[in-house]
Amino acid sequence: MNKKTVRDLDVAGKRVLVRVDFNVPLDESGNITDDTRIRAALPTIRYLVDHGARTILVSHLGRPKGVDDKLRLDPVAARLQELLGKPVQKANDSIGPAVQEQAQKLNDGDVLLLENVRFYKEEEKNDPEFAKQLASLAELYVNDAFGTAHRAHASTEGVAHLLPGVAGFLMEKEIASLGRVLENPEHPFVAVLGGAKVKDKIGVIENLLQKVDSLLIGGAMAFTFVKAQGGKIGDTLLDEGSLDVARDTLEKAKARGVRLELPVDALAADRIAPDANTRVVPANDIPDGWRAVDIGPETGRRFAEIAKDAKMVVWNGPMGIFEIDAFAEGTRAVARALVDSSAFTVVGGGDSVAAIEELGMADRVSHVSTGGGASLEFLEGKELPGIAALQDK
Ligand code: 3PG
Repeated sequence: MNKKTVRDLDVAGKRVLVRVDFNVPLDESGNITDDTRIRAALPTIRYLVDHGARTILVSHLGRPKGVDDKLRLDPVAARLQELLGKPVQKANDSIGPAVQEQAQKLNDGDVLLLENVRFYKEEEKNDPEFAKQLASLAELYVNDAFGTAHRAHASTEGVAHLLPGVAGFLMEKEIASLGRVLENPEHPFVAVLGGAKVKDKIGVIENLLQKVDSLLIGGAMAFTFVKAQGGKIGDTLLDEGSLDVARDTLEKAKARGVRLELPVDALAADRIAPDANTRVVPANDIPDGWRAVDIGPETGRRFAEIAKDAKMVVWNGPMGIFEIDAFAEGTRAVARALVDSSAFTVVGGGDSVAAIEELGMADRVSHVSTGGGASLEFLEGKELPGIAALQDK
């Protein structure tokens, strides 16, 4: 990685503004249901604490329109305090005189978490004045929010032009792992892509087609490809507007010598419900009134076989509606194949990460990205503004 990191800074006694991505899922009562993103930021926070920095954390949570009491960061501060094993102060605002005073009073090793930065509409507008106010709280800036690096917001991009800005350890690890896949692919290199719509993944498909040996497509989007080849997909979700793109992709894969694998069989259901009737059918012959909700067992075996022999695998998007247990077997088969493979394995994108976590296999692959949209854009080969703004080595 060609960006400076916290290791390049002398942080002792300095106020350091750290952008973290504490955009964690909450249940209806406001409890955190998955603290992965908080845990992922701990190495940077601990490093700063141990090196005598005065750490000021800033994050968004959800997509509030103005101040929203349900999206305050108090539960996050409490969880962070537990994980860190030391007090975490919480501010009730992200800028202004009261926050300034709190920041000035910090001692070496103290940690302060600002209020949800998206309570200000200026954040998403990357408003220069707002960025200036955030920057005025600190002397140095660290961006550890890989999950938000695709947003050019005041706290992710604007401040990096006002304070010396470097990457945190999570950011460094994400760039190294995802970057290794794109820049130094080892062969055979296999991509497994799933999800609902071709149009959401076409950028990734285009970029990876230039690098992979095999592209395995599952999820509902695979059936748009099946339809494009003249198959019968019953009531399966069709991304109608992407039929031409699918045909074009099949051509490109052929021209580049990439092995593009689509499902050969599908698990079809008469409804999307845990107690639906299901049957395994050929992927290109799904009866009317039935829809594909998962790849079939033969496809799962084929995908697993190809992934097993790979040197590098990148996986983005589930193979079916894995939230319903009866439709999760294809996604499980892919997760198991990644775990069993000796390849360098990277899982990116919100849904595939949720899937591998739910299956309890997240710690058995080489890298699980904390980014949803960010990892997608990274795999598309785009430059992420939150990374671009940091200082080069
Ligand atoms: C995410 O969860 O993908 C990031 O935190 C970014 O959130 P956003 O899509 O609301 O910008």
